Amino acid sequence: MMLSQRVRTIEPSATLGLNAIIQKLKADGRDIVNFSVGEPDFDTPEFIREAGKRAIDSGKTRYTPVPGTPEFRQAVADYVGSQRGESIDASEVVICSGAKQALTNAFASLCDPGDEVLLPAPYWVSYPDEIRLAEATPVVVYPAEDAQFRITPEALAPHVTPRTAGLIINSPSNPTGVIYSPTEIAALVDFAEQNDLWIISDEIYERFVFEGTFASPFAGKGRERTILVSGLSKSFAMTGWRLGWAVGDKSIIGGMSRLQGHTASNACTISQYAGLEAVKQHDHADLQAMIAAFDERRLLAVERLAEIEGLVTLHPEGAFYLFVDVRNFLSDGATTTEFCEALLDEKGVATVPGEAFGTPGWLRLSYARSIEEMERGLKLFKDHLSVR
Ligand SMILES: Cc1ncc(COP(=O)(O)O)c(C=O)c1O
Repeated sequence: MMLSQRVRTIEPSATLGLNAIIQKLKADGRDIVNFSVGEPDFDTPEFIREAGKRAIDSGKTRYTPVPGTPEFRQAVADYVGSQRGESIDASEVVICSGAKQALTNAFASLCDPGDEVLLPAPYWVSYPDEIRLAEATPVVVYPAEDAQFRITPEALAPHVTPRTAGLIINSPSNPTGVIYSPTEIAALVDFAEQNDLWIISDEIYERFVFEGTFASPFAGKGRERTILVSGLSKSFAMTGWRLGWAVGDKSIIGGMSRLQGHTASNACTISQYAGLEAVKQHDHADLQAMIAAFDERRLLAVERLAEIEGLVTLHPEGAFYLFVDVRNFLSDGATTTEFCEALLDEKGVATVPGEAFGTPGWLRLSYARSIEEMERGLKLFKDHLSVR
């Protein structure tokens, strides 16, 4: 029996693969500082957990409508709309099992075979495979490093062909931590309009905004061509509840719902009830405390990394990642993956090599770690670099 061409071309998720190695090292008794994680180290706040328990005890355990319960869709429409100054109808929202499913279903609903999708690097690991699964082609575009990898219309323009169908924007960005300004977003919306492209705007880190102003292309004239993807995984420390959404044009959202109806049905019912409470109380003190803790860690990490001579760190404005250039520290011919493996093996510090994001020479550190662990891990990281 032969595995299909479609599945043969899928690369295993680099970050999930790395996590498996770390778990094995831990099981062998190694002390690991794990800077490779892509999720908050906080537990889901109690008020959300309680809502989940209440849902179980009151029998909210059956199927819901495929795109989500009417109350939750409405609450998400209100929440997303209020954050962006837009009025959104519940019919423009589909609830999915995580932002990942929202993205996969969005690509499947927007792409025809052979379509090209502009993908700025460094990019989140799953986009290329999600695009390929939709039988479309990711066209990776490399913005200028000295502009903090911020993508611009000028950098995108040479890559537009008659097959170009869409553009991905991810702000705040994983892995760079960069946030696009309202002016930068407006320029990208103009570019999409001029070239008649749709935009998938992945806003999963929308609450992790420490500097600058968050702007979404899903506003004003950009709204009609944008599918906004976000969810509760990161901002509400709810990764395991698997809850995300897409917001956009009713016909695309309808298409995504039909697709979901035959593949996954509704997102977990219990999670939807917990999520309802989460978005209703999105300014809850527990959530604010978590965001404040991330900011404190960010500032500490920036300070510590600045102490390492020869190391360039992109200034992190949002999300919870630091993107550092380690090219000065690579021994002759070594890849960043080999560098990260040595760092893990010799110092017990886990990071993600830039190859996973399309930018070798760089690596990503997550600051979803306690202050104590960060201090320890960054010291080990510095020691490792000082002997190179
Ligand atoms: C940029 C980006 N988009 C989407 C996701 C997926 O989020 P979810 O866990 O809600 O599927 C992640 C998670 O790592 C991410 O970093």
